[in-house]
Amino acid sequence: MTRTRLAVAAAAALLFAAVPSILSAPARADDQDFALIERGRYVATTADCVACHSLPSGKPYAGGSALQTPFGTLVAPNITPDRGTGIGNWTEEDLRRTLREGIGRGGKRLYPAMPYPAYTRMTDDDIRALWAYLRTLEPVSNAVEANQLPFPFNIRLLMAGWNLLNFEPEPFKPDPQKSAEWNRGAYLVQALGHCGTCHTPKTMLGADDTGRALQGANLQAWYAPSITADKRQGIGGWTADQLVAYLKTGANHQSLASGPMAEEIQNSSSRMTDADLKAIAAYLLDRKPPGTQAQTATVAADDARMRTGGAVYTDTCMACHGGDGKGQTFLFPTLAGSGVVQADDPATLIRLVLDGSRAVATDDRPTGPAMPPLGWRLTDADVAAVVTYIRNSWSNAAPPVSADDVAKMRKTLAQVN
Ligand code: HEC
Ligand code: HEC
Ligand code: HEC
Repeated sequence: MTRTRLAVAAAAALLFAAVPSILSAPARADDQDFALIERGRYVATTADCVACHSLPSGKPYAGGSALQTPFGTLVAPNITPDRGTGIGNWTEEDLRRTLREGIGRGGKRLYPAMPYPAYTRMTDDDIRALWAYLRTLEPVSNAVEANQLPFPFNIRLLMAGWNLLNFEPEPFKPDPQKSAEWNRGAYLVQALGHCGTCHTPKTMLGADDTGRALQGANLQAWYAPSITADKRQGIGGWTADQLVAYLKTGANHQSLASGPMAEEIQNSSSRMTDADLKAIAAYLLDRKPPGTQAQTATVAADDARMRTGGAVYTDTCMACHGGDGKGQTFLFPTLAGSGVVQADDPATLIRLVLDGSRAVATDDRPTGPAMPPLGWRLTDADVAAVVTYIRNSWSNAAPPVSADDVAKMRKTLAQVN
């Protein structure tokens, strides 16, 4: 009797145990899909796919943003699941080929303006999640003519040669000597965040100069400075918390982000988790600075350019950036000791003085402070002098800038604006 009751109880327990699990089985599958899609959304955010594949006024991912490349203008295609004009007929494997090998619709070789030289290191899991997320986007019918390059760069066959010379599909290689956090940071910087697309100098053929990874690169009208641990031109003087603050909000004790970096922060790094930002900091601040950190000879304080520059500075810049070049935290960047100010390439400085800029707006700080355009009231020689002045005051040291450099930048800006 007791045994039977026990058996019944056991059967009932089994039944009850089984019922909820039967009921929850499909729910768990949904949860898994949901988790995969959410993970894919986060992968898309960290990889900033939306930046190039959308117009500011258009539907996200429907394509159309024109990219200036050294070869000419390229437009990023529609990657919504629209069957006619997007990637609605694609499979996960097609997306994998694009990211890993740089091969697009109909087997065509893509220009590296699509950052597949970085995305090639993406893990299978991240690609699967990204695919799941892209499938959930609203299909938008929008035909995009991707290739607006002049002859001979419009010949895609050339890309086959470019790839042979420059591009090895290559998985991410973790460094077993380093911590999990460091390796996560390396993966974010090298693969998803594709920081080198802007911060690594390029070879003649437009490929990353890997020997000088993250040491700073010219983007025509901007200069993306070194983000190695170099103390003078890079971010070696920043703490991990200061770097995290910059990537999260676009502002820290020293710098305010402008231009393409402001966009990167708005779309991408301000939306990364704190753990991921700390991982990026752990990796970047551990990267050895390039061999020489020797100070470039400074322009002497009594040089005529420095005297003119000092006068222009007092008149036009000091009210915001201060007599000591220290600015005001979170409002006006510190010019003293800044890597951007001391970069060998002064493109960002000249551009900011000519055209001004509005600093990044994030959820934390909805209106960024602005630097006014001053090009209309300063001559080329004045701009050259004041930029030379800030590069060689308050212990800063960097090569002088000529009126010619300024005239060239005015021309470039007239083209890109
Ligand atoms: C820096 C700009 C940029 C970013 C960031 C970017 N793309 Fe692209 N993408 C492009 C450009 C430009 C092309 C077209 C290149 C060409 O035609 O040779 C392209 C092509 C593609 C194609 C091929 C489409 C076709 O019709 O052949 C796919 C798919 C794609 N991108 C997906 C992505 C995904 C997913 C991400 C994020 C992981 C991403 N892209 C991030 C610029 C970008
Ligand atoms: C689309 C191009 C682009 C991409 C992608 C990009 N950056 Fe930048 N970055 C720039 C430019 C341009 C500047 C200079 C902006 C300025 O002076 O305000 C900059 C500035 C910075 C600075 C400030 C340096 C200083 O001395 O003030 C840091 C730090 C930085 N980037 C880190 C990163 C990291 C980390 C990534 C990848 C997650 C990244 N960037 C991706 C273009 C880019
Ligand atoms: C009205 C206040 C104001 C004046 C006047 C002003 N600036 Fe700025 N400046 C700013 C702000 C705000 C930023 C940040 C803008 C951004 O990040 O987009 C900035 C950014 C800069 C930067 C970039 C620093 C960095 O870390 O990215 C430089 C260099 C600079 N200014 C130099 C000058 C010079 C030289 C002058 C005079 C010719 C000048 N500024 C006049 C407010 C001002």
